[in-house]
Amino acid sequence: MSGEIILKFGHFDDENREYVIESPDTPLPWINYLGLEEMYGICSNTAGGYSFYKDARLRRITRYRYNNAPFDIGGRYLYLRDNDSGAFWSPSWQPVKTDLDSYECRHGLSYTTISSKYRGISSEMTYFIPLGETVEIWKTVIGNQTTKEVNLSLFSSVEFCLWDAQDDATNFQRNFSTGQVEVEDGVIYHKTEYRERRNHFAYFACSMPLAGFDTQRDEFLGKYRGFDKPLVVESGQSRNSIANGWAPHGSHHVLLNLKPGESKEVIFALGYFENDEQEKFDPPGSQIINKSHVRPVIDKWLNKDQVDLGFRQLKDYWNELLSVLQVQTPDADTNRMVNIWNAYQCMVTFNMSRSTSFYESGIGRGMGFRDSNQDLFGFVHMIPEKARQRIIDIASTQLETGGAYHQYQPLTKRGNNDIGSGFNDDPLWLILGVASYIKESGDLAILDALVPYDNKEGSEVPLYEHLVRSLNYTLERLGPHDLPLIGRADWNDCLNLNCFSTTPGEPFQTTENQSGGVAESVMIAGQFVLAAEELSAMAALRGNDAEESEFMKRAEQMTAAILEHGWDGKWFKRAYDFYSNPIGSSANSEGQIFIESQGMCIMAGVGIKSGQASIALESVNERLATEHGIVLQQPAYTRYYPELGEISSYPPGYKENAGIFCHTNPWIMISEAMCSNGDRAFDYYKRINPSKREAISEVHKCEPYVYSQMIAGKDAPTHGEAKNSWLSGTAALNFTAISQWILGIRPTYEGLIIDPVIPSSWTGFQATRKFRGTTYNITVEKEAGVSGRVTELIVDSVPVSGNIIPVGRPGNTVTVIAKIV
Ligand code: GLC
Ligand code: GLC
Repeated sequence: MSGEIILKFGHFDDENREYVIESPDTPLPWINYLGLEEMYGICSNTAGGYSFYKDARLRRITRYRYNNAPFDIGGRYLYLRDNDSGAFWSPSWQPVKTDLDSYECRHGLSYTTISSKYRGISSEMTYFIPLGETVEIWKTVIGNQTTKEVNLSLFSSVEFCLWDAQDDATNFQRNFSTGQVEVEDGVIYHKTEYRERRNHFAYFACSMPLAGFDTQRDEFLGKYRGFDKPLVVESGQSRNSIANGWAPHGSHHVLLNLKPGESKEVIFALGYFENDEQEKFDPPGSQIINKSHVRPVIDKWLNKDQVDLGFRQLKDYWNELLSVLQVQTPDADTNRMVNIWNAYQCMVTFNMSRSTSFYESGIGRGMGFRDSNQDLFGFVHMIPEKARQRIIDIASTQLETGGAYHQYQPLTKRGNNDIGSGFNDDPLWLILGVASYIKESGDLAILDALVPYDNKEGSEVPLYEHLVRSLNYTLERLGPHDLPLIGRADWNDCLNLNCFSTTPGEPFQTTENQSGGVAESVMIAGQFVLAAEELSAMAALRGNDAEESEFMKRAEQMTAAILEHGWDGKWFKRAYDFYSNPIGSSANSEGQIFIESQGMCIMAGVGIKSGQASIALESVNERLATEHGIVLQQPAYTRYYPELGEISSYPPGYKENAGIFCHTNPWIMISEAMCSNGDRAFDYYKRINPSKREAISEVHKCEPYVYSQMIAGKDAPTHGEAKNSWLSGTAALNFTAISQWILGIRPTYEGLIIDPVIPSSWTGFQATRKFRGTTYNITVEKEAGVSGRVTELIVDSVPVSGNIIPVGRPGNTVTVIAKIV
C-alpha cells in the first residue's frame, strides 16, 4: 500500500444494502450503528466503539476513550490464538493489527459483519441488536481451512463503563473503588452501584463452555500493556480474575478444536437488564443479583436458531421501512442514497440526534430541539407513529413563553438547564416539524393532543397552542427593522451577536455578556414566513378562518420587512449586529454573503415572483459554490471578531467559517427547484452526494455511505476533506431536497404532489411511494433536453387537473403517470 494513491477503500453492494470495506486502514474509522429502539451501539470497521442503553451519557454500557491514538481503540474485540504456535491475532484487524490474509467489513442496516482470514483460519463476526431486546449479539463463526487439525483459543474482550460516561471519565478517586462483578454459570455480570441506587446491570454471556474468564482489565492486559498485546491472550491462559474496584472487564476464553474444513459457531451476548426494585437480590437480603428474570433472556439469545431468526427479522424490518419510497432514476448515486443510505442515516439521526458518533462523545449533547424537529423531515415517512411521539416529547419541553430549551436529555426527556434557551429560531422548527408529520400522516388530531410546558403537570394545552406560542415568540421579539431578534444564535449556532466574548474557554452560546442588543436575523425572518404559512394552513384545516388570515398577514408583513431591510442588492443580507450594522452585505469587508438567508428566504417563497430569488441564486453560484459543495459564507473571516462570536473563531474554510456546511446545501437545491432550475439543483445535489464522492475517498476521508456535517471549504488547506460524519441535519434535508423537490414526490395536507424538477438530460424516472396506506407506482415521462414542470397527471388512467393526487383508499395500489412536455 505504501506510496501509491488509493482512492477507494471498498464498494457498495446495493443488492444486499451493504457497504463493503476491503481494507481495514480506512482514512478514518468508518462506523455503523447497531440498535433501533432502546439499546444501541456504534461499531467501526475494525469493531471499535461502544454500547449504551437509551442515553449515551447516563447509561453507557461499555467504555470508550475518544480522541485516542490510534483514533479508534477499544471496542467489541475478539482475539484468536493458535495454541500450537502461540501466534495470536484480531480477526477484526484492530487492536493487534496483524497483516491479515484477507479482510472485509460489511456495514449493513443496523448490523456489521467483519470477516477475515489468517493462516487458513477464517472468522466471521456479525454484530446486531435484535428488535424488541436490549442485548447485542456477536454471532461468530470460526473455520479451519487448512489441511491440519488446529487448536485455537478464542478470547472476547469488552471494558465496562461505570454507567455515567462523564463521571466514568473523570471521577477516578471514587470509581477505582466501586467496580463490582459476578460470574455465574459462565456469564459475567457487571453490577457497579447495583448495591445502592441502581436496579440495572450489564451481562456478557457466551454460548460455549469456558476454559476461563477475566473481569479485571489489568489482569487481562498485564502490566504496562495495551489491547494490542494482552498478557492473557499472549500466554493463552485466562486468570479467572474478579474485579474489585479498578476497571471491570468482560473476557471469555473458549477452546476450539477444529478438524480440517470444520467450522464452529460461538455466540456472545452483551446485554442490559433492569430488575424490579423489590426483587433486586436473590436470596432477598443478600447482595447477589437476582438472575431469575434475566436468565431466560440470556438462554434465548445464546441459541443459534434464535439468533438467525432475530437477524432475519431485522432484515425484514428494514425491507419494510425502505419500501415506503423506492426510486429508479438514471443516476446510480441518487438511487443508492434515496433507496438505502440516506433513509438509513435519517433513522440514525432521528434516534441519536447529535449525541453519539465518533465526533460526538455521547456526553456533550443530548437531543437538540431544533435538530430533532428537522430530523423528522427525513424520518416521518418511515414510522409516523414514532415521529408523533417525538413531537409530543419535544413540545413537552417547550417553555411557557413559547421559547425552548436548546437541548433535552433522552433518558429523562427533560430540558437541559446547562445550555438553557434563547436560540430564537428554535420554537419555529416545532411548527415545521409538526407540519411535516401532518402532511405525511394526515393526523390533524395531533393538534388537539394535550401537551405540557416544561413538563409541568397541570400546564397541558393543545399542541396547536404551542405552535401559536412559537409564532408569537418571534413576533414579541422583533428588532428595529421589524426582523426577528436573534438571541443567542439562530440555526447558525456560531453567529453569536450578543456575546462579545474575550475570555478564553467561555462558551459562546450560553454567555451573554451584553444585554439590550438589537441583533436581528434575516434567516429567522425567512423561517418565520415559512412557519406562519404552515400554521395558517393548519388553522384553515381546523376551520379557524380568523387565525388563517391573521397568520398569512404576519407572513406578508415579514416578507415586506425582508424585502425592505433584508435585501442587499444582489442577495439577502444575513443579519444585523448588536449595533444594527448589516452582516452578510456588500458593505462588509469579510462575510459579505451567507448561504442561510438565501436558502431560507427563497424556500419561504420570498423574492420568487419579484425576481430577487433568481438574482440571489446567481450570487450563490458565483460566490459560494465550489466543486465540493456550497460554502457557508464568503469571504471567510480571517480574524476573530468579538461582535460575531464563534463563527470567526474557526480558521478560514472550516465549520461555520466558510466551510461547506452540508446541511444548508439542500436549502439551495430546494430553492433552485422552486425556481424550476432542475439542472442546477441536481448539480448541487451531486457535489455533496457521498456515493458520488466515494471515488475520492482518499480526499473526502469520512464514510462514503453517509453525509458528514462539514466538508472543508475553498479557504482551507484541506479543501474537500469531510468531518463529523453521520449526525447532521444534512441527512434529513438532503433526503427532503432530492425526494420531495428534485424528484418532486411531496406530501401535502391534501394529498401527494408530483412535481419533479429534474435534470434536462433525463428521460424521466420511476418511483414507488406508500402514502397514507395507498401504494403509488409513479412514472415520470419526459424527453431528453426538455426542462419544465408536470403538464399532465394521469391517475389510474384518468387525467387529473393540477399536480396533486387525491388521497386514495388504504390498501389500494394506484398507477400514476406524470408527463413533462
Ligand atoms: C450543528 C448543530 C445545529 C446547527 C448547526 C449550525 O449541526 O447541531 O443545530 O444548526 O451546527 O451551527
Ligand atoms: C454546532 C456548530 C459548532 C458549535 C456547536 C455548539 O455544532 O457546528 O461549531 O460549537 O454547534 O453547540
